Amino acid sequence: MSEYDLVIRGGTAVTATEIAMCDIGVRDGLIAGIGTNLRGRESVDAKGLLVLPGGVDSHVHLDQPFSSGADIADGFASGTASAAAGGTTTVVCHAPQIRGGSLAQAVASYAEKAKQARIDHGFHLLVNDPTPDVLERELPALVEAGHRSVKVFMTYESNRLGDAQILQVLAAARRAGALVCVHAEHHELIGWLTQALLAAGLTAPRHLAWAKPMVVEREATHRILALAEALDAPLQIFHVSGAQSGEEVARAQARGQKAWAETCTQYLVLGEADMDRPGFEGAKFMISPALRQPADREALWQFIRDGVIDIVSSDHSPLRFDDPRGKKQHGEAAPFNKIPNGVPGLAARLPILYSEGVAKGRIDLRTFVSIVSTNPARRFGLAPRKGAIALGADADIVLLDPKKRVCLTNALQHHGSDYTPYEGLELQGYPVATYQRGRLIFDGTQVLAEPGDGRLLMRSAYPEIAPTGRFPTPFDPFS
Ligand code: URP
Ligand code: ZN
Repeated sequence: MSEYDLVIRGGTAVTATEIAMCDIGVRDGLIAGIGTNLRGRESVDAKGLLVLPGGVDSHVHLDQPFSSGADIADGFASGTASAAAGGTTTVVCHAPQIRGGSLAQAVASYAEKAKQARIDHGFHLLVNDPTPDVLERELPALVEAGHRSVKVFMTYESNRLGDAQILQVLAAARRAGALVCVHAEHHELIGWLTQALLAAGLTAPRHLAWAKPMVVEREATHRILALAEALDAPLQIFHVSGAQSGEEVARAQARGQKAWAETCTQYLVLGEADMDRPGFEGAKFMISPALRQPADREALWQFIRDGVIDIVSSDHSPLRFDDPRGKKQHGEAAPFNKIPNGVPGLAARLPILYSEGVAKGRIDLRTFVSIVSTNPARRFGLAPRKGAIALGADADIVLLDPKKRVCLTNALQHHGSDYTPYEGLELQGYPVATYQRGRLIFDGTQVLAEPGDGRLLMRSAYPEIAPTGRFPTPFDPFS
């Protein structure tokens, strides 16, 4: 009798710490053997291919309303198809509380939508209305049940929390054992600059970057880092877009704070100049925070090499372009503040990071695996089940052909949006197969996973996000 259900034979397996030519044996959906000459009922020849842990994208929006009221282009079925086509096997999405509503009910109804997921997924608890009942009763119960991350926004009218509310959320999450993630931008400053720009007739898509300059993000990043430091609350800064906010994170880390940061694919390869494309084309690149300058992109790669930024997510926020419910919600003549923000990027993330990162010599292979898979799995309590090629881990595996050349097109994205901001980008290296729990879910052309195949991942308490026990004074407000 064969020993394994599946053997992936002779590839180069890469983890965050090791690179080895070996066979991977899969049994009952788990990695059950790593060695040579393994025997299996099925076998796949991976010679010349990289064998990577499936991508973990820890910042994704699916089936969630936009702040502008525009329609999101991906539900769980299409969004997770896109993930599989790009070598991502786990996503963490946002379960959004409606103001005046219950967080627990929001999570329950989001879990119903997530039943359409083709790949494994977890939820961030998106707290938009931190009432005493939410913070004292609902949130601790949800965290205990396994939703171990919380998201807060410092901007967007329908989401934003004030500093006093943020302190309450940080304290509640610390008590419950959850990691707070933040969208950090200074709301009032954006509003003031927006009004000034509109009054001056500066209304084009590119002026979004003038309404949301780096100082808007730097100030908010600094402020929430200070709040988290005072409470000794671990913090994850989402979508660091350039040098100045990365410097804030680096300073906090140097002080010993448990503060971490992600950037996103788009901040590494796109820039403010893309918003200046002719006609309405610039709208395809409107996101929040805004795209930055070439020097910011260089700084972000350096932060990745230095470990200051150790996760790269997609912030997949897909809108359709040629659609009155998408980017054209208010027509092509709309001023920048009426054009919904967001870009798709789930399928593009892992291949772009390989090509722009490893193939172009900016980062090494192990760093690549760390930022796309191992670190997000660890940070969000999904390890050791996800994010590693290791005995006992889920057999979530991507085979990537490092020689394959691909010109990115929208058709390759398998998402619900009618465009990709990366159209025409030439890549070297591309996923040719994706496995979830030992099952082929993308064969290099087609997505084979069905809606409903994905599992909702509940996460136990994990040490990485335990507070340090250090406060600015001898007073411990939590004792
Ligand atoms: O631009 C991004 N990243 N998201 C937009 C979110 C919203 O609701 O407008
Ligand atoms: Zn986001």
